[in-house]
Amino acid sequence: METREARIGIVGMGYVGLPLALLFSDERFRVTGFDVDQKKVSTLNAGGSYIVRILPADIQEAHKSGFQATADYSQIGLMDAVIICVPTPLDEHHEPDLSYVTGTVASVAPFVHEGQLIVLESTTYPGTTEEVVVPMLEAGNPHGLKVARGPEESGVLVAFSPEREDPGNETVARHDIPKVVGGCSTAAAELASAMYGSIFGRVVRVSSPSVAEMTKLLENIYRCVNIALVNELKQLCMRMGIDMHEVIDAAKTKPFGFQAFYPGPGLGGHCIPIDPFYLSWKAREFDFRTRFIELAGEVNTQMPYFVISQISAALNERSKSIKGSKILVLGLAYKRDIDDLRESPSLTIIELLRGKGAIVAYNDPYFPTVGRGRHYDLNMTSVPLDDLAQYDAVVIVTDHSAYDYRAIVEQSQLVVDTRNATKGIESPKIVHC
Ligand SMILES: NC(=O)c1ccc[n+]([C@@H]2O[C@H](COP(=O)([O-])OP(=O)(O)OC[C@H]3O[C@@H](n4cnc5c(N)ncnc54)[C@H](O)[C@@H]3O)[C@@H](O)[C@H]2O)c1
Repeated sequence: METREARIGIVGMGYVGLPLALLFSDERFRVTGFDVDQKKVSTLNAGGSYIVRILPADIQEAHKSGFQATADYSQIGLMDAVIICVPTPLDEHHEPDLSYVTGTVASVAPFVHEGQLIVLESTTYPGTTEEVVVPMLEAGNPHGLKVARGPEESGVLVAFSPEREDPGNETVARHDIPKVVGGCSTAAAELASAMYGSIFGRVVRVSSPSVAEMTKLLENIYRCVNIALVNELKQLCMRMGIDMHEVIDAAKTKPFGFQAFYPGPGLGGHCIPIDPFYLSWKAREFDFRTRFIELAGEVNTQMPYFVISQISAALNERSKSIKGSKILVLGLAYKRDIDDLRESPSLTIIELLRGKGAIVAYNDPYFPTVGRGRHYDLNMTSVPLDDLAQYDAVVIVTDHSAYDYRAIVEQSQLVVDTRNATKGIESPKIVHC
């Protein structure tokens, strides 16, 4: 690791794996990116990018350190360390879907070798590394290799290290986000710490993979529960005629014991709406109910429905109904200034509006078109923002910073603002929700 001779393989060239590959490449490591998506492999090898905030020039720069992508798992054998960053979604019963992880481990297992480091980064329930990944690696390699456990043993070195990226957050450099690492053996923890220590400013070693897995879940559950809290209190504040955002701004002046979370139209992204349920599921094995998670999930999931009720009320004030109204949804991404719409509340809001007979259009600079995803089939094209007066309501679902909110309010008949994006703009056309 110190001499940068170690070859790093990263499986899953998505929002997590690709930036990680670039961090290693920046530090002159020779990185190979593995992905089953041949289109991504070809794009990367041609020096292109498919993630907005990663420029083709970044990929081309990484090529100079030897970065290349492949779908050929036999190259795993050439790697000194393999980091797995594949998706961990929920299935249709809202239960963990580990199929991407198990599919990856099954593909990696035949090529592992003694002393090779295998790190899982995908967010998952405590126990996944030791109960799922380790047995699969041991059963799937043809040489009968064992995974090293405890302080002394040798074998394949396995660890878990959660990803802590916050897409769109420009305030903390990736390098400055401490990296938590838990190994199945002392050697695995040491090697993983050395590897991450070469690209991150600080490595936090914990005693086991389960502690590292649970750390990630605690972080995300903390966010999920606190967002639910402000989402619920916002609804109360609206009834009481109090501006929740003003309350939060005042509360956050307290120099200790308070961290600001903001209400919105509902949770989105690959993490916060999903990860907590990995723990609820695992908790059942221990005859335990994670009530905070369930309650937060209930409050947050209901938020898009609350937005619909507010749109309906605002139209009603103007003697209109949702049915037959032209409604423009501003912003599809699940949060500001990113090109990710996984689990975005905008998708639910559009489907609910359409279900009630609205004629819905959307604008999002990050999504010229939107087709079909795991949970939606919209088949829409982003409309230009040139004739806002034609819409009965413009609903701000994502507060992208590229929008000129003053101009939007001026040109629209009615603006329903779910993000406090119009803060400071006084107009009877604005309805906050
Ligand atoms: N996106 C985030 O901000 C974020 C933050 C923290 C943690 N995470 C976690 O990181 C993990 C990865 O998330 P992501 O956002 O990068 O997902 P993603 O969907 O952007 O990327 C996953 C990639 O893995 C590839 N893949 C799937 N199965 C594969 C296989 N068997 N072999 C090789 N490649 C395969 C897919 O083609 C895709 O390119 C998840 O567990 C997620 O919860 C994500």
